[in-house]
Amino acid sequence: MEENMSNIKHFYNTADFPPEEIFKLINLALDLKTGKKKKYLDGKILAMLFFNPSLRTRVSFAVAMQKLGGVALDLSVKEGSYTFEFEKGVRMDKDTIEHVKEAAGVLSRYCNGLAIRASELITTSKVSVEVAGWEQAKKDKVMKAFMEYASVPVINMESNLYHPCQGLGDAMTIKEKFGVTSGKKYVLTWVYHPKALPMATPNSEILTACDLGMDAVIVHPKGWELDERIIASMERRSKEAGGSLSVGSSMEECLENADIVCAKSWGALKYYGNWEEEKKLKVGLKNWIVDQKKMEMTNNAYFMHCLPVRRNVEVTDEVIDGKNSIVIDQAENRLWVQMAILTTLLGGSDQI
Ligand code: CP
Repeated sequence: MEENMSNIKHFYNTADFPPEEIFKLINLALDLKTGKKKKYLDGKILAMLFFNPSLRTRVSFAVAMQKLGGVALDLSVKEGSYTFEFEKGVRMDKDTIEHVKEAAGVLSRYCNGLAIRASELITTSKVSVEVAGWEQAKKDKVMKAFMEYASVPVINMESNLYHPCQGLGDAMTIKEKFGVTSGKKYVLTWVYHPKALPMATPNSEILTACDLGMDAVIVHPKGWELDERIIASMERRSKEAGGSLSVGSSMEECLENADIVCAKSWGALKYYGNWEEEKKLKVGLKNWIVDQKKMEMTNNAYFMHCLPVRRNVEVTDEVIDGKNSIVIDQAENRLWVQMAILTTLLGGSDQI
């Protein structure tokens, strides 16, 4: 099969794959959307474990499996309902019910793939949660444990570091709108949000923007830098694709001549999980909102946001409801890229 990623077991980070594999997935997703290609996962089963809330990812994966003729099981593992142990060699005499080693092993016998969301700052809590710092978070210990112990492919539905399905869905949307993407100016702008938010989406969005060979710009206030190691990976991907990557600190300056404006809030790495400190850094940053005046500085840019979005905090109604807003297309395309990922990883066929 042309799209087969035969030597690839898990889908953790788009940058784990050569750019040509990323393009194959995007092209397959576009072909599935237009009906040019049909793929099936007849009778195959995906177990979805959500350690955090989700609307788009949960429904789009379930719908993807249904459309492909397979089944998605939505397992409730949120805190308090079922607790796994992730440490090795631990005496399990406290509150964890079972070790991930058995859980991943058993699920691998029942299912053809596992999909995991484990991003500790995604909560339904009205207040920001306190968690261990970035050094701990970036180990992605839940996702890595499932990847280590599962004998079937594991798909990252958002970890602390990466949200590869979002990145791929964004890239598909950009390709769908522009066709040729090299030379287009893509701006990922930090925006204000009243809560502490994860780093995964901006990381994956910029990584795939770099794969498209665009002139990618990240703009944020001082103190909101992305992880240096991931920036280095973005730079490598960008160079390889013939694009560029730069970082700025003025939204107005960076939006000039932009073809795409992607808004996203993320956390301050220095204070990751320490909301009391992070919120002090947010004082005076409420003007980091995408409004019509700022959009008028662009090259008639499309507006993107991964959703969920805080209206009139991250972006004004005028912009998100405007003709250049493609946020619903962007969310729809999560479905098509996930169908491409699922059929590629779980061995989809062209016939039922
Ligand atoms: N963009 C995204 O992943 O949305 P959900 O958190 O609703 O899944």
